[in-house]
Amino acid sequence: MQPSAAAHHHPPAKDSRINFYGPILLFLAALLLFVSLSFSSSAPPAPPRSDPLPVSSSSPPPSLAYLLSGSEGDVSRLLRLLHAVYHPRNLYVLHLDLAAPQDQRVRLARSVQAVPAFHRHRNVHVVGRPGRADPRGSSALAAALHGAALLLRISDGWSWFLNLQASDYPLVPQDDLLHVFSFLPEDLNFVQHTSNLTWRETHRMKPIIVDPSLHLSLKEGVFYASQKRELPNAFRLFTGSASVILSRKFVEYCILGTDNLPRTLLMYHANTPSSHMNYFQTVLCNSPAFNKTIVNHHLHYEIWDTPLRRDPKALNLKDFENMTESGAAFATRIPKDDAVLNRIDREVLNRAPGQITPGGWCLGASDTDACSVWGNSDILRPGPRAMKLTKVIEDLLSDGNFQTYQCIWE
Ligand SMILES: *[C@@H]1O[C@H](CO)[C@@H](O)[C@H](O)[C@H]1NC(C)=O
Ligand SMILES: *[C@@H]1O[C@H](CO)[C@@H](O)[C@H](O)[C@H]1NC(C)=O
Ligand SMILES: *[C@@H]1O[C@H](CO)[C@@H](O)[C@H](O)[C@H]1NC(C)=O
Repeated sequence: MQPSAAAHHHPPAKDSRINFYGPILLFLAALLLFVSLSFSSSAPPAPPRSDPLPVSSSSPPPSLAYLLSGSEGDVSRLLRLLHAVYHPRNLYVLHLDLAAPQDQRVRLARSVQAVPAFHRHRNVHVVGRPGRADPRGSSALAAALHGAALLLRISDGWSWFLNLQASDYPLVPQDDLLHVFSFLPEDLNFVQHTSNLTWRETHRMKPIIVDPSLHLSLKEGVFYASQKRELPNAFRLFTGSASVILSRKFVEYCILGTDNLPRTLLMYHANTPSSHMNYFQTVLCNSPAFNKTIVNHHLHYEIWDTPLRRDPKALNLKDFENMTESGAAFATRIPKDDAVLNRIDREVLNRAPGQITPGGWCLGASDTDACSVWGNSDILRPGPRAMKLTKVIEDLLSDGNFQTYQCIWE
């Protein structure tokens, strides 16, 4: 997996830090064992649908809350992404930002309503009155917090918040992801971060910007103040990627908490470029209550080839092997309708065009739609992807890695 900007050359900090997540390895060892057992006994790599359903974990799997964000022209991409990451246990909020005309939002909502599984489980919501989300400014952060607040409000049953862009795509079926997450402590946050700001110090941290999408109804780009500011010394800045997986507890802390740190940092980030790539990282690492819960990876596969670019490299068919070998849960930045999406659907998700990624809850016998008949959504049928992802997470949480790369001050 691409370690992106993660710091990698520090001696392990073997000091007085307590081993907060000692028991995780036990969980994971049990998980690996379980997955191997289920492979050898009942689950061949691509289980035919008529197989008896192996039940995965004893307790019900967790529920994940997804924010899927897009902009003008992203309706079909968001729908495809939704079908690819859908599971009836999860919750989905679709945010098509204000740059997209209202008729696209209406089309999105109608298309969602028209899918029987979405309609019946009532777990897909489309934001009706979104704001603008400019990734160069701070409105993208406002949109992410808005989505997270809606997800908190809609349900108290979920354990993790995941934000995906229309250009992201899953590299594991939801059954596998839910299976692996059902063994993790619920306070973990998967957030890639570093305090080595490099080029971002001059381009992202010192400039002062105004993001007009916050206060003007006309579409206008971000503009820069002529003066720059000093780096703060009341807290330490961390930067990373827009993709984050946050625990419910941490999302509540940011949105509902009485501790003022998240709001102070939000004010600071209001006139900082691309603040959605720094905010959660900075809050987590500056909070004594949460700084031990951060895992320095976002579980996305992404490649940064040229440092100064705003986005990671666009992935395509040539990246398929590396992407799937990485064990990552998601891929970041695939162009619209790129051929690699079809290959992921076919070989990784077992998803037919226009349909939902099948899982243990799908009982349909028909070859055309496995998910036309619904069974118990607590039943997962994890496959080989769960095993790869488990190995990745096991590695991230191992003694040599977990605390070594956590909120390091460079
Ligand atoms: C977390 O915060 C506490 C209190 O400020 C500090 O002592 C500790 O070193 C921090 N841990 C990390 C991983 O940053
Ligand atoms: C895949 O990974 C290998 C080994 O890291 C690397 O040499 C190769 O260039 C990668 N392929 C692509 C298409 O990025
Ligand atoms: C910060 O990152 C740059 C570029 O990757 C690297 O050259 C430098 O050594 C890093 N600084 C520290 C303190 O790790």
